[in-house]
Amino acid sequence: MARIIGAIATSHTPTIGFALDANKQADPVWKPIFDAYEPIKAWLKEKQPDALFIIYNDHISSFFFDHYSAFALGVGEEYPVADEGGGPRGLPPIKGHSPLARHIGESLVADEFDMSFFQGKPLDHGCFSPMSVLLDRNPDWPLPIIPLQMGVLQFPVPSATRCWKFGQALRNAIESYPEDLKVCIVATGGLSHQVHGERCGFNNPPWDQKFMDLLENDPIALTRMTHADHATLGGAESAEIVMWLLMRGALAANAKVVHKSYYLPSMTAIATMIFEHDAEPMPAKVAEAHRAHMTHQVDGIEKLDGTHPFTLERSVKNYRLNKYLRDLVIPEHRALFKSDPEKSFEQAGLPENERDMIRRLDWLALIRHGAIFFVLEKLAAVSGVPNPAVYAAFRGMSLDDFQKTRNAAVTYGVGGKETQAKVEATGK
Ligand code: FE2
Repeated sequence: MARIIGAIATSHTPTIGFALDANKQADPVWKPIFDAYEPIKAWLKEKQPDALFIIYNDHISSFFFDHYSAFALGVGEEYPVADEGGGPRGLPPIKGHSPLARHIGESLVADEFDMSFFQGKPLDHGCFSPMSVLLDRNPDWPLPIIPLQMGVLQFPVPSATRCWKFGQALRNAIESYPEDLKVCIVATGGLSHQVHGERCGFNNPPWDQKFMDLLENDPIALTRMTHADHATLGGAESAEIVMWLLMRGALAANAKVVHKSYYLPSMTAIATMIFEHDAEPMPAKVAEAHRAHMTHQVDGIEKLDGTHPFTLERSVKNYRLNKYLRDLVIPEHRALFKSDPEKSFEQAGLPENERDMIRRLDWLALIRHGAIFFVLEKLAAVSGVPNPAVYAAFRGMSLDDFQKTRNAAVTYGVGGKETQAKVEATGK
């Protein structure tokens, strides 16, 4: 079974990545940053984790306010580096541990944390800034990650208590994973800092020291503080410290700090910690009961004929296909699909079997393969095929026969004015 071997806490300031990319290792101003990470690198080499669970927040590089969520878990197979305005840093994409991420996601939802899930999104400095100094690349990253993106930029933000409870649920999620994996949790985020407004430049090193002491010895005290308390003591952007608290919630009560560093070169301290804990493993019987609890809501659904539940596994495996079809809502993509479908297949990198199903509008084959119905509805709209014709095809019936199973023989689709007349003409 999987186990948590310990945790790292680290700031994620852009200065870290900048110092690395600008080769500032020998510069006395920047050297303390690199020095802080040496013991952590050595610890990781000694402990040899199989995966890192990284708690970070995006800085509206990949997650914007058109859809903002509190807890977004990455379930994808690979994450590129985000462009934050000047092009992405020259780092390779990092692999995701998709099976463990799915297990964690299913466990958290079963424990009533209503997660959002993402894939195909680049990660910004919140994740890659510390990763680039912690892990050597040769040329690829040495191990996969499971990223948890926390929405801490737009209030309301989950309370410190909620993050603590999330950490406790995370421990159950990781420890109930049946494979023998060593997982290290990495919490990122700045301690005291404020980067906006007239209070910009605010820091509070004595509070930062006290925060790190409380995180080790009395984390419950931190859960009794409000966001306003944190902002008063640490500045507005220190809201990120709830991510450290989340990590602490996943560790044993007696977790011990074996490394701590603090250096304040500019706006935010480069603070790091290593926690080790000697936790009792989850008993096998408890893990088995937890896994049963995780699947309780969907047990039996597999017995339904002609039903293809859209699970995280299905979603990740068929992300490219579903994205290709979903993107038919984008006028430029739709125009290319209509004028030169082979070119658009090629641009999207679709394999031949998927191209073939789309060319033939083989609705049932697409569903069986892993497309979700609602992208087929878009493909039907673009193709001028009414929805009832798709339903009829699923059932192996003619449109006429299918319409006889309804109360009225109507045709319709989700397409707008581009295809409405064609849809209406079908079946008349
Ligand atoms: Fe940040």
